[in-house]
Amino acid sequence: MNVIVRDTYDEMSKAAAEIIAGVVKAKPNCVIGLATGSTPIGTYKELIRMHKEEGLDFSQVRTFNLDEYLGLGMDLGKPYHLDQSYARFMYEELFKHINIPRENWLVPDGLTEDPEAYCKWYEEQIAAAGGIDIQVLGIGGDGHWGFNEPGSSLASRTRVVALTQKTLDDNYESFYKKAGFTRDQMPKFAITMGIGTILEARSAIMLANGAHKAEIVAKAIEGPITAQITATAMHLFKGSMTVILDRAAASKLQHLDHYLHTERAWQEMRSKG
Ligand code: F6R
Repeated sequence: MNVIVRDTYDEMSKAAAEIIAGVVKAKPNCVIGLATGSTPIGTYKELIRMHKEEGLDFSQVRTFNLDEYLGLGMDLGKPYHLDQSYARFMYEELFKHINIPRENWLVPDGLTEDPEAYCKWYEEQIAAAGGIDIQVLGIGGDGHWGFNEPGSSLASRTRVVALTQKTLDDNYESFYKKAGFTRDQMPKFAITMGIGTILEARSAIMLANGAHKAEIVAKAIEGPITAQITATAMHLFKGSMTVILDRAAASKLQHLDHYLHTERAWQEMRSKG
């Protein structure tokens, strides 16, 4: 596992976008797993810039999002402030700005009439696409990946889950409050890829920024593996796993000096060829 620390959110976002762009260039028809939330917005902005200014081509890329609230789905007819679906978020923050064909991106459908069958179908679509080449992850305040809340099995698959109070509170503050929703109007369930599903990706990057994430980031990277903090599954990842942090999110890491040293050492090694 690699831990990369950058001074600012913008630098963290650039480092993440470079890794994703590297995968897209090496394999133009790659499959990317995507996350929503405030953390990857800068990364998506940088990918959009690369597309517009450098011609980064998404025409053959396929994407699968980690999660969606049950009861929400993208409705382009609705004004933005009334559509808090993750599908809408992805469309506004990334998809509408790049040349990915509509049929190539999938966000779990929170409006499905048969969520259980849908979750099975979603897994089948990932498998049919050949599996995920690179999965983008954030980390929740309670250590979740996707909506795999504390206690989720580390072998779990795509399924319907109930959200914890902590996640509801975090999301209320980040999104729903601004949109004028009351707490009662927020969805309490979601569809999420499972930890077992995420672990099958060939590579992954986990991003975190801000001092408010420092404690959970330290637990996820340096604490014991536990289903109580599902991001600790990063240690079970068989592919390449890179954690990219800004200074504030890295501030509680006990072995920060070691991670900084390791990255410098690799850079020196690469520059010598
Ligand atoms: C969203 C997702 C979540 C977020 C996490 C962090 O698709 O999978 O696990 O990554 O809740 O959210 P932010 O980035 O808003 O702090």
